[in-house]
Amino acid sequence: MESLPTSQDDPRLQGWYHTVELGNGLVSKGIFDHRSVIDNYGIPASLKGKTVLEIATGDGFFAFEMERRGAEKVVAVDVPSIGACDWMPRMRTRLGDASNNRSWPAHFRMAHAMRGSSVEYRPASVYDLSPYTVGTFDVVFCGSLLLHLQNPLGALAAIRSITNEMLIIETAVDPAFEATPDQPLMSFGYPAPEKEAGEGNSYWVFSTCAFQKMLAYADFPVTVPQGVFLLPPSGPWGQAIVAYTDEPAHQTWTGTT
Ligand SMILES: C[S@@+](CC[C@H](N)C(=O)[O-])C[C@H]1O[C@@H](n2cnc3c(N)ncnc32)[C@H](O)[C@@H]1O
Repeated sequence: MESLPTSQDDPRLQGWYHTVELGNGLVSKGIFDHRSVIDNYGIPASLKGKTVLEIATGDGFFAFEMERRGAEKVVAVDVPSIGACDWMPRMRTRLGDASNNRSWPAHFRMAHAMRGSSVEYRPASVYDLSPYTVGTFDVVFCGSLLLHLQNPLGALAAIRSITNEMLIIETAVDPAFEATPDQPLMSFGYPAPEKEAGEGNSYWVFSTCAFQKMLAYADFPVTVPQGVFLLPPSGPWGQAIVAYTDEPAHQTWTGTT
């Protein structure tokens, strides 16, 4: 492996998706710094003895956080390049060579080496997750992915097939929808102007009710919303839901057995 950054002004620490603490006081400069909102996700304080899968890990902020919380094993998956995301065909053609961009696996590798991490990285799409491809995990984490998928319900079914106990899942929500909390609402499309339809690679903004209903369809009968929050520095709005595979799992995790 090539040499690793040793000072904060190393240009390789610029242009990340996640702000990641890399050790020796070095921190990547991410578009999103989740450190101030980490408590909004409902991640258990201790994951001691648990196996964890993180889906759509990006630069790895959450996978490293799961490792820090004592998980016995953490596996992180993401698609191998930007071209493997769910683009509409016309946008995929337009991407051309840019579709080979692999910045996040490179950032993940750098953070992994700098932190001395044991997280296992595998290239995989959420749609291909199954007990046969990755095995099953006590805890599954998936942040800011559903909004980018053409088939979020199919993805949830794949996620359910590899979740033993708990899924922690966050996606974009519209706070305006919360005025009618019993309505399973969703809006379609990137929520800001686009020069070309579909270039934002964002399809859905849910209400919390719709998000919970989709999880119920995917066989997560117990869902606990954690509260709408603004992803720093300036959005979008997100909601994390802790979903359980059954009532006994819920009771075990909340200590109500
Ligand atoms: C908005 S980023 C979210 C990163 C991180 N999960 C978080 O919450 O900060 C979306 C991530 O989803 C990944 N992704 C897109 N399509 C995917 C798919 N079909 N399967 C797995 N990951 C995917 C992208 O590569 C990217 O890392």
